Amino acid sequence: FDRFCFGLEPQTQGRFTSTTSAIKPQIENTTAKAAKESKTFQAIQEERREQAERSVLISCPPKINEKKFLDYLSKHGTVNNHFFYNSYGAYAVVEFSSRDSIASLKESTNIPAVEHEAAVPFKSRLLSLKWPGSQSSNQPMPKFKNQSPPSIGEITQLLTEKDSIDEQLQSLTEALQLTEENVSLRFLVCSLLQDIAGAYFPECIIRPFGSTVNSFGKLGCDVDMILDLDGIYATSQKKGSGLSLEYQVKRGASERAVTQSILSVIGKCVDQFGPGCVGVQNILQARCPLVRFAHQPSGFQCDLTANNRVAMKSSELLFLYGQLDPRVRHLVFSVRCWARAHSITSSIPGAWITNFSLTVMVVFFLQQRNPPILPTLDRLKELAGPSDKCVIEGNDCTIVSDLSKITLQQNTDTLEKLLQEFFEFYGNFPFNKASINIRKVSHPPTTRASMRKLPEDAADVLANPLQTPTRGQCGREQTKPETTALYIQNPFETTLNVSKNVNGTQLERFVALCRESAWLLQQKEILNRSSVSPWGFAALLLPSVTSGTGVKSRRKRKLEPASSRIKNLLDSLKIKGGETVAKKGSE
Ligand code: GTP
Ligand code: MG
Repeated sequence: FDRFCFGLEPQTQGRFTSTTSAIKPQIENTTAKAAKESKTFQAIQEERREQAERSVLISCPPKINEKKFLDYLSKHGTVNNHFFYNSYGAYAVVEFSSRDSIASLKESTNIPAVEHEAAVPFKSRLLSLKWPGSQSSNQPMPKFKNQSPPSIGEITQLLTEKDSIDEQLQSLTEALQLTEENVSLRFLVCSLLQDIAGAYFPECIIRPFGSTVNSFGKLGCDVDMILDLDGIYATSQKKGSGLSLEYQVKRGASERAVTQSILSVIGKCVDQFGPGCVGVQNILQARCPLVRFAHQPSGFQCDLTANNRVAMKSSELLFLYGQLDPRVRHLVFSVRCWARAHSITSSIPGAWITNFSLTVMVVFFLQQRNPPILPTLDRLKELAGPSDKCVIEGNDCTIVSDLSKITLQQNTDTLEKLLQEFFEFYGNFPFNKASINIRKVSHPPTTRASMRKLPEDAADVLANPLQTPTRGQCGREQTKPETTALYIQNPFETTLNVSKNVNGTQLERFVALCRESAWLLQQKEILNRSSVSPWGFAALLLPSVTSGTGVKSRRKRKLEPASSRIKNLLDSLKIKGGETVAKKGSE
């Protein structure tokens, strides 16, 4: 993409005269700070979006002299924040305090002359610094911020060193969650894309949604984006001038057809003129049409959708749940990590459970605690103020935006208990007849005594994961409206099932793994840090012996007698001080 980058000229003087003393090297955690200040989801997103509009992305020489670099940039204005990272080369994200600095910086750029190639003259905010700015021996190298998640091996190592399961789950969240810098980079990539889409729709906004903003994002997850044209509709509807746009608008057969045609031209633009955008695919026939591409300078896989306001509202809902109690995020990160380690989820679309579905399942489980840890979606609607009213395509998506209005009940369950009971809950959930609905929670099912009876019952329970045990069962979950294996009601489009794609085999694997993990968490050896390694949650990430590898290999495993499988489970862990029969966690 080099030919689309603009080189920076070091000798050019900018319009501004500030010095590096104005530079703040530390980036404050905006989301955490905003959440503490009880800012609404929208306010946090706006703040980040505005920061991104004042930022540039600069490809740098690997041995960059940070001080010289900042001295040079500050000639164009005050630099608020900056950081370096590596993604097939060194890059810097630089946030100025004013957008004027970007105009000044762009003025000083030149279009690179490359022999045998011609450049598309589009002045983007992705710049390339050719000037060496070489490192002198007494200059420390800048710190490069990591943008990748730790491997399973590194996670196992980290967890093994902790003293309790609660500590393990907390440190897992810290290790996997998006960093402040990574979120800034995600917003910047959206903002860069907005510059391209702005060629067609000058008033458009490209907003991130999904795990970038819902507080459950893991380093390395994709960037889901929405091309938001609502501002254009809103401003043109307010004016009662009697004039309406006629010759400037074209009509489509349906809203879907319009969305498809908009995305198809934007996809083409991204492909032809998007600096660093490669592998552009128009996936316009999907239920939710999208343009997929890789943004090389950031290393992000991006999915651009349009007319997808419900998905943004779902992201806000999950964000809200994540802010209400720290245990929510810890449990979601742990369950997602566990599911990924066992190939219950995959980055490839298919019949597997998605991270979104898993998160809704955790929310549902936490709503069913006694006392509940999370309120129902209907309760969030009751607490909403007039300005929170939101109806999208006939669906009432109203939820309270002011977190301080929500009163929670006292529940002191430890993370260890919640994790154990999550596995018991779904290891025994009557999936064959009940659906999961976070809007209205019916009477909680009692904790099934049958799980406690493992391993005596293990033969039956593990051999028939979808057959609901009869003993100890008295839940009144909502009856399933259709015959799909897993029914999770879409929170806002209540006639839809978010897990319609999941087939019986994948659900069976999930249930079998829940049972296995519930059982493992009842074993003293697993809970005792000094008896096995890896121990606690790390032991749950080891390859399963009761369930096939699913996504990787769909070959059905022949079920062995439960007793020998259970023995294998324990054997698969390394007994400290004893014989080594360890199975290594897959990387
Ligand atoms: P990652 O796996 O980390 O990317 O999680 P994610 O939450 O970003 O999921 P994904 O990229 O698959 O989808 C992005 C967003 O689209 C989700 O957060 C939801 O808001 C929404 N979404 C995904 N799948 C569904 C679905 O089946 N139904 C509905 N209504 N929304 C969905
Ligand atoms: Mg996503």
